[in-house]
Amino acid sequence: MSKKTIYPKITTHVLQEMKLKGEKIAMLTAYDYSMAGLIDEAGIDVILVGDSASNVMAGNKTTVPITLNEMIYHASSVMNAVSRALVVVDLPFGTYQGDSLEALHSAIRIMKESGANAVKMEGGKEIVQSVKRILSAGIPVLGHLGLTPQSIHKFGTYVVRATEEKEAEKLIKDAHILEEAGCFGIVLEKIPAELGTKVTQEIKIPTIGIGAGNGTDGQVLVIHDMLGITQKFSPRFLRRYHNLSEEIKGSVQSYITDVKSSDFPNDREQY
Ligand code: KIV
Repeated sequence: MSKKTIYPKITTHVLQEMKLKGEKIAMLTAYDYSMAGLIDEAGIDVILVGDSASNVMAGNKTTVPITLNEMIYHASSVMNAVSRALVVVDLPFGTYQGDSLEALHSAIRIMKESGANAVKMEGGKEIVQSVKRILSAGIPVLGHLGLTPQSIHKFGTYVVRATEEKEAEKLIKDAHILEEAGCFGIVLEKIPAELGTKVTQEIKIPTIGIGAGNGTDGQVLVIHDMLGITQKFSPRFLRRYHNLSEEIKGSVQSYITDVKSSDFPNDREQY
């Protein structure tokens, strides 16, 4: 029987140790105090304050519009709740591409104003100067390759990435570039499982997959998707652990009925 190591606090060093020991890393997104507290208490290893907040919290069609101030607000709320998990925050679109000094300032703002533990950035070779500059300030960076939603207007679609050899080769090269630059891990999004396994075996830092198969060192899902709060989004990689949208609507309907019928509040629910 395999023994599970108890880690009182998750750090980037612990994630590296987990990869070496072959222990899978469990990561979920959170954007607010209440949900982050529940996930942390449940024992999640890594909490991602993802720019998917743009979709699931703000209702935007893409992750492009979310701002640095909004990410800092979400990250601070999460940090107020978390005591064990490693908290990683997405650098939003337009705050790190093309200008490494701006990237550094953006990352410093996130770390100083939210108290988070690390930042995540999408891209490989194109953003490596920004990655290096942020790392030089002592800020841990998580890479993100494959489907990179901040580039949706370039891709034009959210289909599986790197199915062609040329793109797969670039992805492998980018993974090595990010590893050499000093990233503590890489998220691999929506790529063939075989490629996810290959990258994971080739690099020494942990990989965390979302739609990248079972061969990665860990998995990440958007909390609203895995709890079934979002209703229309159902890619193949998504396992729903609950149908909260139905439960929430059912509870709200019961409340409406109780209020309209004067059943709520009853004698015990008033002063
Ligand atoms: O923003 C996000 O939630 C993400 C995950 C999908 C990895 O980047």
